[in-house]
Amino acid sequence: MTEEPHVKIFDTTLRDGEQAPGFSMSTSAKLVVARALAEANVDIIEAGFAAASPGDAEAIRTIAAEIQGPRICSLSRLNPGDIDASARAIEPAASKRIHTFIGTSPLHRDAKLKMSQDEILKAIAETVRYAVDACDDVEFSPEDAIRTERDYLAEAVQAAIEAGAKTINIPDTVGYTTPEEITDLFRFLIATVPGADGVTFSVHCHDDLGMAVANSLAAVRGGARQIECAVNGIGERAGNCSMEEAVMALATRRDFFGCKTQIDTTKLYPAARALSRVTHNPIPRNKAIVGKNAFAHEAGIHQHGVLADKRTYEIMDAEAVGMPSNTLVLGKHSGKHAVLARAQYLGFNVSKQKIEDIFPAFKRLADTCREVTDADLVKLLTGNAEADGRIGPWRMRQTELHVDMEGRERPYARVTMEHDNGERRTVRHKGEGPIDAAFAAVCAIADVPARISVLDLHHVASEGVVRAEAVIDVGEDQYFGKAQEVDVADAAVAAFVAAVNQAAAVRARRDCAVEEAS
Ligand code: KIV
Ligand code: ZN
Repeated sequence: MTEEPHVKIFDTTLRDGEQAPGFSMSTSAKLVVARALAEANVDIIEAGFAAASPGDAEAIRTIAAEIQGPRICSLSRLNPGDIDASARAIEPAASKRIHTFIGTSPLHRDAKLKMSQDEILKAIAETVRYAVDACDDVEFSPEDAIRTERDYLAEAVQAAIEAGAKTINIPDTVGYTTPEEITDLFRFLIATVPGADGVTFSVHCHDDLGMAVANSLAAVRGGARQIECAVNGIGERAGNCSMEEAVMALATRRDFFGCKTQIDTTKLYPAARALSRVTHNPIPRNKAIVGKNAFAHEAGIHQHGVLADKRTYEIMDAEAVGMPSNTLVLGKHSGKHAVLARAQYLGFNVSKQKIEDIFPAFKRLADTCREVTDADLVKLLTGNAEADGRIGPWRMRQTELHVDMEGRERPYARVTMEHDNGERRTVRHKGEGPIDAAFAAVCAIADVPARISVLDLHHVASEGVVRAEAVIDVGEDQYFGKAQEVDVADAAVAAFVAAVNQAAAVRARRDCAVEEAS
């Protein structure tokens, strides 16, 4: 039996991804993501573009020094200065790569570079050789390859191979190609360029027409053995091929693609979360593989099927991508099976009759809101909620937020909260900003190690209020809280407290259930 080909995963979250507006990262943030990528066992990390800025060069060098396992790569334009900067930045890495590129399409040649075809071929031959002297692993990309004349593209690729490039990357820089076209292009290049059998062909797709993943997989069908991709599909404009989607497509449809990767798929969700956390960009709910809804089911028929056998509506296990488990979201489409399952998950030892009893109230509530939260369900099951609708033991008493406009002191918050047992606690905490400080103080008081995951604030001008919704992560679990206040900071903190209160209430119920059982 012939061995399945290995498709390398070249992750460019920290380079192409980081170039996208809203995703720039400090060195320490990049390191968090690089560690998550190494945990996932990606083959190559493109850690940045060394010549772009001293900060980028420093981040690459830090990653090169610290990260073990993946090859560390830096991007360079096709000139000696950029190549020297890359070589210096990746120097501490155990295995390294220089990735160099130049535009080859008529638009790039004429409008941007003002270079003839021959001048570009000469630059490729000379500068790729220069890069090979600096680093024994060189990748070359003819930028905008898809809009380059095929015969000229083949000449450019041949020049890079002859100069010593080991990887030839074919970028769809503007997200223009289609699956059939790119399969055909890879077949053409691999069959016709002299020396093609001695190098790895790579694909790099952008998502302008929403086809980056499909096109990357189609390139694999055409012979590509490296996919350039980014966590959560971030990248220039509409983004790059999404790493988790490409990897899970190859794994789930191994029967069809006949290729394997070395990725530990259980680290995909943690990597997506790490990126989301350090860049403060929530993962869209409906994002394939790692979105909150990817393994969530609300419709009653689906929930019943999934509870009986999750394969009825799932082609992958949530656990396979590192998500805690499939989630049954309670809403107006949910049935009694799901309500019972969630009650048991929350630690309630309830009978089917109890679920029958609360079900009409559950449906009435579900009709009025987007999602029936754990706290809502606890309220229905126990009949317990404070007059203010609060679930959980903590009540906010006072919040003071301090910002030194001169910047001499870090922002801090002083928060006082009261427990149902009458205990009052006050904590003063510093933070990145006053609200961050208040969140940290709330966590310290309630002894709940929460991280804010989503904070939505809506100013309702007609009512003169701010509505806030907060989602927090506590270990593997997520909790939701909402609040309405006149002031935006008060609303944010109150929604956070509501979510922390839910976490505290669920923890108390689970502790009780464990005690009863033992
Ligand atoms: O999209 C692109 O063409 C690139 C190259 C630098 C590979 O990102
Ligand atoms: Zn790109």
